Amino acid sequence: MINHVKYELSTNILTVLDQRKLPDEEIFLNCSNGEEVAIAIENLTVRGAPLIGVTAAYGILIVWNNFLKKGSDLKVIQDDLAKYMERLSKTRPTAVNLFWAINEMKLIVNSNRSIDEINSKLLKRAIDIHEHDIENNKKIGVFGASLLKNTKNILTHCNAGALATGGYGTAVGVIRAVHDLNPVIHIWVDETRPVLQGARLTAYELYKEQIDHSVICDNMAASLMSKGKVDGIVIGADRITKNGDTANKIGSYSLAVLADYHKIPFIVAAPQSTIDFSLEQGSEIPIEERDPMEIKMVGNRWLTPRKSNVFNPAFDVVPSNLITAIVTELGISEYPYSFKK
Ligand code: MRU
Repeated sequence: MINHVKYELSTNILTVLDQRKLPDEEIFLNCSNGEEVAIAIENLTVRGAPLIGVTAAYGILIVWNNFLKKGSDLKVIQDDLAKYMERLSKTRPTAVNLFWAINEMKLIVNSNRSIDEINSKLLKRAIDIHEHDIENNKKIGVFGASLLKNTKNILTHCNAGALATGGYGTAVGVIRAVHDLNPVIHIWVDETRPVLQGARLTAYELYKEQIDHSVICDNMAASLMSKGKVDGIVIGADRITKNGDTANKIGSYSLAVLADYHKIPFIVAAPQSTIDFSLEQGSEIPIEERDPMEIKMVGNRWLTPRKSNVFNPAFDVVPSNLITAIVTELGISEYPYSFKK
C-alpha cells in the first residue's frame, strides 16, 4: 500500500500524497508549516474524515515544533497554537475527526505540564492517532467482513479507503477483509460526482490490490439493484450522531433509500472518532458546500453554461433507520442506535 502520509521528526515535515492528481500522477507534497497543512486539508490534497484528523494532528505538531525552535515561552506558544487550531477548525466543517483530533492535541498543549513533557506527549499523541487509526480500521474490516462475507457484489461510494484514513481504510478496509476470505468478490465503485473520489481513488486502490471492480456512474446503482446485482453496500462516514444518523459523501442517502427498497444490507464502517457524542441527530450536522466550479468544469472543459447556477453540497445524511449496521473498532451495532461515550 502506498505510504500517503508520513511525518519526519528530524525535518519536522509532513509529506502527503496529492490526492487531487490521482490516478494519473503520484505526486507528494511537503508541508513544513501549519498554513501549508491547513491548505492541504482545505483544497483536498488530503481528504477523507480520518485522514483529515491525522493530518490536523501532525499540523499542530509541526506548528509546536516550529515555535520551540524559535525559543518562544510556553504561554506564547499556547496562545499562538490556539489561533492555529482555530484556523484548522475552519478548513472543513463536516468531518468530525478534524475537531476530535484538534481537541486531543489541545488537551495536551493546555495541560499543566512542562515544555519537555508537552513536547514528548504531543509527538506520541500525533503518532498514536495515526497508528491507532490503521489498527482500528483492521478491526472494523474483520467485523464488517463477518456481515458481508457471503456476498458476491458489494457497492461502495466515494473513497473510504487507505487514502481516506491513516491506512487500510474503513469501507474499503471491509472490502479488503471480505476479499481475503473470498477473492472472487466483485466491487461496484460509484464514480461519485463531482470530485470523483470513487472513480479516481477507490478504483486506484482496488486496481493496485487486484480486487475485481467496475466503476459505474452514480445514476446506475438503482438499475443494478433492481436486477439483483448488488448484495451489499458499505460506505464510510464523516460524522455519526448519537442516534446513528450518518453524514457521508453526497449520494449516500439516495443509496440508502434504494437499499431499503431493494432489501439490500446497508453498512456504515467508521472509527469511534467519527461519532459526535455532542449531537443527537443528523439535522444538527453542518454540511459543507463546496466551490461551484467542481460541478461546472472538468479539467479545462465547461460542463454547464458559464452563468448557470449550481448547488454543491459535499455531504448528505443517511437516517439511522435506513442503516442495517454501523461497524466500529468496538464491534457491530444495529438500529436503534444510541451511542454512548
Ligand atoms: O470530501 P471528502 O473526499 O473528504 O469526503 C470523503 C467521504 O465522504 C468519505 O466517505 C468519508 O470521509 C469516510 S473516509 C474513511
